[in-house]
Amino acid sequence: MNDFTVKVPATTANLGPGLDCLGMALDIWNTLSVKIGESGIEIRGEGRDTLQNIKSNLVLTGFEAAHDSIGVPLTTVGFVCENSVPISRGLGSSAAAIVSGLVAGNHLLGDKLDNNQILKLATAIEGHPDNVAPAILGGCQIVVANEEDILTSTIPTHPTMNAVMFIPNSSVSTKEGRSVLGGAVARVDAIHNLSRVALLVNTLRSEELSNLNIATEDRLHQPARQRVFPAMKPIMNAATQAGALGVFLSGSGPTILALCAGRETTIGYEMAEVASKSGVDGTIKISLPSNAGAYITRK
Ligand code: HSE
Repeated sequence: MNDFTVKVPATTANLGPGLDCLGMALDIWNTLSVKIGESGIEIRGEGRDTLQNIKSNLVLTGFEAAHDSIGVPLTTVGFVCENSVPISRGLGSSAAAIVSGLVAGNHLLGDKLDNNQILKLATAIEGHPDNVAPAILGGCQIVVANEEDILTSTIPTHPTMNAVMFIPNSSVSTKEGRSVLGGAVARVDAIHNLSRVALLVNTLRSEELSNLNIATEDRLHQPARQRVFPAMKPIMNAATQAGALGVFLSGSGPTILALCAGRETTIGYEMAEVASKSGVDGTIKISLPSNAGAYITRK
């Protein structure tokens, strides 16, 4: 086998109301180069200063999981990770790392695992399927955990819809982002989110995106996360006022993602401006959704 490369996209989870069951791939990519006959992990780009602990490296965790699942001893290879997905910002950096390791291990061992097996292994490592599903499959994914199985269904993404992200400089790990969520939810809040998820799916499938403002509302996780990230609401309001179609916390945050069809630069600028006034510095990224998920190049 020759050296090969795995590409895996960034992802945004929840899309507002779809807590743990909706996710969408973005056109921002991590590249994992697999070097046959070498060893060690080199990290370039995002995480180059923070991800040097090889034992806890999620690429390696995914690579090992593929070997365990196929039932063969671990192969020694060298990895070069060129990361464009920001770390611990709610854009699926851990899902991208896990999936890249799984896909690399699977390819090295003869592509014995199908996408659904990779999805189950990645979910077991990540804890939630909503980032790993679009990282593997691309597009916008409905993810349904059903006893032992995980079902996915693709929502076609709108060709003119862009994502504008305000990415704060400070990070939030998924564990921290989840620790603020309560247990039981009131029926009225469950109904609020059910109705919006249904509307969101129908709206994304349609030509008319104007319902996205209501369809991206949420009561199951954003209010709790707002309490630890007070600038969230003002940044979201700034995006809406500047012309965003819908806006939500990306995954467990802190990135705020606005869905737009035009005015992207203005929307990004307004979000950054309001964030800065609240003492939150960060960067703006604009990306299309990606219909492609993880894939292998330079076979
Ligand atoms: N659905 C997850 C959450 C995404 O909101 O905590 C983060 O992995």
